[in-house]
This record gives sequence, structure tokens and C-alpha cells, in this order.
Amino acid sequence: MINCQHKLRRTLVQIRYDDVMSSPRYIPKVYGRRQGKGFKPRLARLYEDLLPNISITLPDSGKIDIANLVSGSKSPWLEVGFGGGEHLAWQAARHRDVMMIGAEPFIDGVGKLLSLVDEHKLTNVRILHGDARPLMEALPDGTLERIFVLHPDPWPKKRHFKRRMISPWFFAEATRLIQPGGMLRVASDIPDYVRWTLMHAQDAPAFEWMASKADHWRVRPDDWPQTRYEAKALREGRPPAYLQFSRLADT
Ligand SMILES: C[S@@+](CC[C@H](N)C(=O)[O-])C[C@H]1O[C@@H](n2cnc3c(N)ncnc32)[C@H](O)[C@@H]1O
Repeated sequence: MINCQHKLRRTLVQIRYDDVMSSPRYIPKVYGRRQGKGFKPRLARLYEDLLPNISITLPDSGKIDIANLVSGSKSPWLEVGFGGGEHLAWQAARHRDVMMIGAEPFIDGVGKLLSLVDEHKLTNVRILHGDARPLMEALPDGTLERIFVLHPDPWPKKRHFKRRMISPWFFAEATRLIQPGGMLRVASDIPDYVRWTLMHAQDAPAFEWMASKADHWRVRPDDWPQTRYEAKALREGRPPAYLQFSRLADT
């Protein structure tokens, strides 16, 4: 059993890693750990039985068959780097008519989300174990209603800024993917990353920062649950910014 679990884990990690490494367009690095510790038997079962049913396979070329992916649900929402999956599962449980798509390269995060999907009997979750960027590029225009990027890896050193998820590339893809009237949410507890996000948003005419009051971005909306990373940031004295951008109709 132990050998079998190790083999399965190696295969899951390797498949995505090879995909990312073989693509010349992506920097083959993610911040922090990609692999977790050993799998427990329940998790091994979820990886074996549940994940294949809800995992997303990227096409070799062209776009994803979105009708097949959403299978009758409303326009999907995408979470980039869902970590432990608590935000994604919370949204999926409250919006059962919306397909929640999540991308996360960290295998333990995928396992945590699988546990939540199983526990709450969520049928409206689809997972890409890997880099969100090829997934975004493979989605057809105007597919999404919302994108969430909650506490993206900070890549604090200047020479690593090019690895940050929020970028001109990201805003171009978000402009292409989010339907007019849709929304982009970004959270960060790193002041430089907040500035960075607002700076790039300013260069994206399709998005308008929804900061109606001076401290709007300091208050987490009720329909935005706390993530594990956010709780840690607050414990450590780093209050996050909650940025919400509306996708305008006429751009
Ligand atoms: C600081 S953690 C935040 C996790 C979670 N969003 C939260 O708020 O608790 C950043 C997450 O982004 C994931 N990540 C990093 N690069 C990514 C990429 N290219 N595509 C998708 N996820 C990525 C990491 O594996 C990690 O789980």
C-alpha cells in the first residue's frame, strides 16, 4: 500500500512538473513547496478515485471544450493558487450552480481541496494540479465570471518580479476571459504587491477598481471567506488588502 501511494504521488507530481518544464513559455518555478509529505490512506483513495473524475486535462493545442467542462453550470469562476482550497470549497458550497475551477501546483493543497470536495459533496469543482497560466491560456474568450487570486506568492526580490502572477500578461488574459460585468478579486498582505497590483490594474482599461469608500479595500466582504494564509498574515500583524475590480462592458 505504502509503495503504491508513493508511486501514485510521484506520478501525479511528475505529470504536471513535466508539462510545466517542457513548455518554453513558462518560468518553471513556483514559490515554496511543490510536493508535500506522505499521503494518508484516505487521501490516497481521493487521489485515485475522486481526482481523475474532476481534474482538468489541458489540450495539446487549441482551447478547452468549455461546455464539457462546466456541464450545464453557470459561467465558471476560477481561483488561481487555491492553497488549502478553503475559499474555493466555501464558494462552491454556496454557489452550487457555478462551476468552481481551481489551479494549484502544490500537491498537498490539491489533497486538502479533495477532502473538502468529498466532505461537502461538492459536484461543482474542477481542479488543475499545476500552473494556472497554461490553463488560463487554454480557456476560450469570455468564459469566466470571476477570477480570484488570493495572496499570490510575493516573489519579493526585484530580480524575481517577472515570476509574479499579477503582470501585464495576467491582466491581458483576465480582460480576455472575464465577461463584462464580471469581477476580479486579488488579496495581498504585502504592501509592495498591493501597489504592484494597482499599478498593473491602472494599465488595464477593462478593469475598474471598486473602491467606493476610502477603506473599502481594508474590509473583507461577507462573501469572501478567510483563507489559511490570510489568517497567518493577520496573526503576524500584516493586515491584508482586499482588492476588487469590476470588468467593464465597453472595452
Ligand atoms: C501564499 S499561497 C496562498 C494560498 C491561498 N490562496 C491562501 O490564500 O491561503 C500562494 C499559492 O499560490 C500557488 N501558486 C504559485 N504559483 C502558482 C501558479 N503559477 N499557478 C497556480 N498556483 C500557483 C502556491 O502553490 C500557493 O499555494
